[in-house]
Amino acid sequence: MTNITAIIGGQWGDEGKGKIVDYLSRDVQLVARFQGGANAGHTVYKDNKKIVLHQIPSGILTPGCLCVLGMGMVIDPVDLIEEIEMINSHGLVTDNVIKIALNSHIVTPIHKKIDLRKEEATNKAIGTTCRGIGPAYVDKFNRCGLRAVDLKNLDEVRVKNDKRLAGAIENEEILQIDKESIVNDFEIFYNACEQIIPFISDIFSLVHDYNLNNKKILIEGAQGTLLDVNHGTYPFVTSSSPSTGGVSAGLGLPLTKVQRIVGIFKAYTTRVGKGPFPTELKDDTGEKLMSLGNEYGATTGRQRRCGWFDAVAARYSVLLNGFNEITLTKLDILDDFDTINVCIAYSYKGKEITNFSEVLSDLNNVKPIYKSFNGWKAKTTGIEKYDDLPHHTKFYIDFISDYLKAPIKIISTGPGRDELIIN
Ligand code: IMP
Repeated sequence: MTNITAIIGGQWGDEGKGKIVDYLSRDVQLVARFQGGANAGHTVYKDNKKIVLHQIPSGILTPGCLCVLGMGMVIDPVDLIEEIEMINSHGLVTDNVIKIALNSHIVTPIHKKIDLRKEEATNKAIGTTCRGIGPAYVDKFNRCGLRAVDLKNLDEVRVKNDKRLAGAIENEEILQIDKESIVNDFEIFYNACEQIIPFISDIFSLVHDYNLNNKKILIEGAQGTLLDVNHGTYPFVTSSSPSTGGVSAGLGLPLTKVQRIVGIFKAYTTRVGKGPFPTELKDDTGEKLMSLGNEYGATTGRQRRCGWFDAVAARYSVLLNGFNEITLTKLDILDDFDTINVCIAYSYKGKEITNFSEVLSDLNNVKPIYKSFNGWKAKTTGIEKYDDLPHHTKFYIDFISDYLKAPIKIISTGPGRDELIIN
C-alpha cells in the first residue's frame, strides 16, 4: 500500500502540479509543502472557479485534510493571511487544518525589499518573483533568520527586526528611503504574525504519527527541479531544493518512507524568469504555445518563455529525483501542431551530448538536436482512456516514456479537475 506520495516538478516549475496534487489528494489525510514559499503559484479549480494557491498546500480543497507548511519553507505571514481570506471566500474551511513547522523561517518586509532592490540594481537580474524568498534563505543560512517558533515572543521579534532593518540600510541591501514604507509594512506584518501563531506546531511529530498510523500523506513540491539551488541552472534558480532531495531536509521525513515519487512534466517546456533554456522558441511557434497554453506566471503574471519538450533535461530530472512514474500535463496544447519536436541531444563544441550534467554550466552554448513527430491535429480534451488517444499522440507519449525510462501514468488533457487520463 502506498501511504506516502511525493509530487515533484520535473522542469522549471509551472508544470501543472496544482491540478495533480488536487487529484491525488482526494483520499489523503495530510498534504505537506517542504520548500519555497509564496513564490509558488498552484492553480486549482473548485466548482469551476479558479483558485491560485501560493503557500497553502492544495489539500485545502479536501475537507478535513491537514495542510502542513514544512520546516524547509520560508513563510510570509501577510500573504498567508490574505490567502486564507481568499480561500474562505470560496467557502472552504481553514480552521484547525493549517499547521506551520516550528523551525520554518519567516519572510519579513525587509526580505521583500532586499529582493526587489537587488533585482533592480544589477544587470544580471535573476528575474525573481520578488517575494523575498532568496533573502529569507540567506538569513536562514547566515544563522540570523527569524523562525516561526520565534513569533511566540513578538516583543523580541520587534527588537530583532529593528536591528536587521538598521543593518540592511547600513549594508546598502536597501535604501534609506525604503525605511518608512518598511516600518509601515511591519505593522501589517505583526498583525498577520499574531493571527498565524495558533498554526505553529510540532509538525515533525504530526507527520511521523500520521505515517506510523498508516494515514495517507501527499508531499507537494513547488517550483521545479531545474530551479534547484544545488542541481539547477545556477545562478538562475530559486533558493531551495524543489527536487526529491529537498523532501527529507524540508519535512524531516526520510526518503525511505516515500514509496511513490511522481514527476510532473509539461508536454512541452516553459520557463519564467531569466536563465538558459535550450529549446526556447522565439518565433511564432513559441508564441502559439504561449497563447494556447495561456502561459503567464501564476504568481507574477509574467509571460512564460515557451519551447519544445527537452528530453535531455527531463532524463537528468528523472535520474536526479528517482521518479517511479511520470505525469504529462497540458497535452491538449499540442493538439493543433503539424509537427512537434522533442530535443533528444545537444550539439556542443562539435560533440553530441545526451548527458545534461556535462553541459549544465554552459547551457547557453548548446544547440538542441530534435526528433520530429507528426502532429495529431485532433482534440484530446475529453478523451478518458489512453487507448482512445490518436495514434500519433500515443507515439509521442510512448517515445517520451521510453526515452526517460519511466512510465507515464497520468496524462492531463485540459484544465478541468477531471480532464485526466489514468494509464
Ligand atoms: P525566486 O524563487 O522568487 O527567488 O525566483 C528565482 C527564479 O525561480 C526565478 O526565475 C523565478 O521566475 C523562478 N520561480 C520561482 N518560483 C517559481 C514558480 O513557482 N514557478 C516557476 N518559476 C518560479
